[in-house]
Amino acid sequence: MTMRAFAVDEFGAPGSIHQLPVPEPAEGEVLVRVHAAGVNVMDPMYTAGWLKDYMEHRFPLVPGIDLSGVVERVGPGVERFAPGDDVYGVVTKPAVGEGSFADSVVVKADGLAPKPASLSHEQAAAVPHVGLTALAAIEAADPQPGQVVMVVGATGGVGSFVTQLAAARGATVVAVASSPARDLALQQGASEAIDYRSGDALEQLRASHPQGVDALIDMHSDAEQMARYGQAVRSGGRAVSPRGPAAAAAAALKEHGVQFIGANRLPASRLPDLTALIEGGQLHVPPIKTYPLEEAGAAINEMAGGHVRGKLVVTVA
Ligand SMILES: NC(=O)c1ccc[n+]([C@@H]2O[C@H](COP(=O)([O-])OP(=O)(O)OC[C@H]3O[C@@H](n4cnc5c(N)ncnc54)[C@H](OP(=O)(O)O)[C@@H]3O)[C@@H](O)[C@H]2O)c1
Repeated sequence: MTMRAFAVDEFGAPGSIHQLPVPEPAEGEVLVRVHAAGVNVMDPMYTAGWLKDYMEHRFPLVPGIDLSGVVERVGPGVERFAPGDDVYGVVTKPAVGEGSFADSVVVKADGLAPKPASLSHEQAAAVPHVGLTALAAIEAADPQPGQVVMVVGATGGVGSFVTQLAAARGATVVAVASSPARDLALQQGASEAIDYRSGDALEQLRASHPQGVDALIDMHSDAEQMARYGQAVRSGGRAVSPRGPAAAAAAALKEHGVQFIGANRLPASRLPDLTALIEGGQLHVPPIKTYPLEEAGAAINEMAGGHVRGKLVVTVA
């Protein structure tokens, strides 16, 4: 049996539809018929080979971390899921290349949860990777009602969820976003939006919040910019980033009395927390732009551009 999969045959290749064998679920694994696959920053990193020295990559390389679909078959030992279940989740294999941009994907059962019933597969596929990372960032920053949080990259994948989660906690969110993203930032619960393209964002923030902010959650900055924006955080506050390189700002931030915390994606066992927030109406899936599987390469290129508002999703079935 074969299936359609979007794959690249070498690093940097544009990628195309391949016919590949349908994978078999081993012990603890689930074969999912993919309906939609979210696109993430990691996907262009995988296909371009930026992570080739850190992780095994297998060719033809099928990208795709996020998925929403229907269980086709379960491997030995899987009792939580049965064929026909609607699920969403993340591919958690140690090697890169057997991802969700395909008709079917094998996923470890602990990477999955029941799909939120109120969401379409396209919407559900936009949630897991960035939603679990946003939850990690919010738990690290721990904003309290009335506190002010500066959110950089507030309308991207992770930032869209961070903005909503911080606002839902009663924090005042100051979004740093380009002017085309302003309306979305405000819709998602930000109280004000600073356009980083129309002047220095730190100076603009200091003008509107001379007393500083209680926390910084930054989805974009490198270490140098993180340390600089961290000057806006009051002593005793926190600066959080999901970006590995930003961690090099920790020492500079500490000198200023600010604690740096790296936010790595929480395990998929926390997906039910996101489901509860979605079903409870406290968390909304951001705007989605869809691409058919045949055009997954264009979606990957758009993701690599770094200015996606909301999420890109590849529709498969
Ligand atoms: N550690 C983990 O487990 C983990 C998990 C997920 C993601 N991440 C990382 O987290 C980061 C964000 O991921 P994402 O999915 O949210 O990415 P994304 O959807 O591409 O969002 C990036 C955001 O950065 C903003 N941006 C671009 N240039 C900017 C600038 N000069 N100043 C301020 N903001 C700027 C964009 O806003 P505009 O459109 O307004 O420019 C956009 O909102 C990535 O580096 C990703 O690799 C880490």
